[in-house]
Amino acid sequence: MDSILVKGNGALNGVIPIAGAKNACLTLMPATLLSEEPLTLTNAPRLSDIRTMTQLLQSLGAEVASLQDGLVLAMSSHTISNHTADYDIVRKMRASILVLGPMLARDGHAVVSLPGGCAIGARPVDLHLKAFEAMGAELDLRDGYVHAKAPGGRLKGAVVEFPFVSVGATENALMAATLAKGTTVIKNAAREPEIVDLARCLQKMGAQIEGEGTSTITIQGVDRLHGATHPVVTDRIELGTYMLVPAICGGEVELLGGRIDLVGAFAEKLDESGISVTETARGLKVSRRNGRVKAVNVTTEPFPGFPTDLQAQMMALLCTADGVSVLEEKIFENRFMHAPELIRMGAKIDVHGGTAKVTGVSKLKGAPVMATDLRASVSLILAGLAAEGETLVNRVYHLDRGYERVEEKLSACGAKIERIKGN
Ligand code: EPZ
Repeated sequence: MDSILVKGNGALNGVIPIAGAKNACLTLMPATLLSEEPLTLTNAPRLSDIRTMTQLLQSLGAEVASLQDGLVLAMSSHTISNHTADYDIVRKMRASILVLGPMLARDGHAVVSLPGGCAIGARPVDLHLKAFEAMGAELDLRDGYVHAKAPGGRLKGAVVEFPFVSVGATENALMAATLAKGTTVIKNAAREPEIVDLARCLQKMGAQIEGEGTSTITIQGVDRLHGATHPVVTDRIELGTYMLVPAICGGEVELLGGRIDLVGAFAEKLDESGISVTETARGLKVSRRNGRVKAVNVTTEPFPGFPTDLQAQMMALLCTADGVSVLEEKIFENRFMHAPELIRMGAKIDVHGGTAKVTGVSKLKGAPVMATDLRASVSLILAGLAAEGETLVNRVYHLDRGYERVEEKLSACGAKIERIKGN
């Protein structure tokens, strides 16, 4: 297993290009199963999770070609030759559940392995299943798999009301509803930019969708969808992560392709803590005005609130802020695994349930630390960039799931960072 060695090296300055969004691409790719015609995605991120989704779609009989150094995904599922998403692939990546809606909607039947547990929380898929049942599906949970059937071979339009916001359940129901008979109304839908991007792509394929980006989405089912080409939206979580580089180390960084509307609540918190965020012709520019960062309180919420996927990275910043910050994690029940590792670097953090109290210290100190999940791993790298001495982040396979070419992007801004190949 590879590790990454980071040496604190003072202020960092430069330009970082932001890739297409992992969490948009992981729902756009299964949309190819909704049509016999080709779907091409441009601005695709080059990540291990995208390769896993490619493997899954190919196991179902789809063709997926990665072109132009991986930036273009040319996909087509003329026929779905296998309707079973195997545990061996699904266990690697929970987003695999997003093939269930499209297969069920297209061919009226599908068998998908249940994803199993995750480091950051139990993460059940009950809301996905309830949505399909509301659309008339018959489900049988057997041997760790969901066996799904649409009586008469077609789902029917329905009102799907979620008791709380779920990104994945909204995406699955949205894709399924495009080919259902009649009208579906999704209430209390997720409003994330990845959902809007998915709706935009489906509309290009001929889907009748209104209300994306609001909490009520209406879909008029159609008999078939056609092919399309669609650019993957910018990755707002990669963007937010790199906006924290000058915030934590000092300096000034321009994020190419950055958009303020994707990171509104996050940018407001940075402003509150004394970090300057400005729009440029090419994206966003971030710099630390002067002196220490100010302590701020943060509560994670569904979009447009503060994203849970930036909570760990924000904690790394607040470890050296002036004062006491309180972070509340409201989305996942076990998403403070990075705290004990930051404490190994000299941070002062008290965690009680879903609340972490961070008392700022003047400086962190480098140490060997362990990555536990994707966002925790990058928060440790951010902390290492500002720490005295060396930080060795182990198990960075987590990182490669969601960040492409981290060492290259950071060393272009003057960071001392290198990958240590595992044996
Ligand atoms: C998506 O996960 C993202 N993943 C996550 O990003 C992100 O943290 C999350 O949305 C919230 O923004 C992808 O898009 C691939 P949810 P998802 O359904 O869809 C509970 C990253 O770091 N829930 O909105 O799985 C669930 O347990 C990843 O890139 C149910 O109880 O998230 C959680 O507590 C991590 N039953 C809450 O809802 C369900 O059927 C929100 O989950 C579904 C969800």
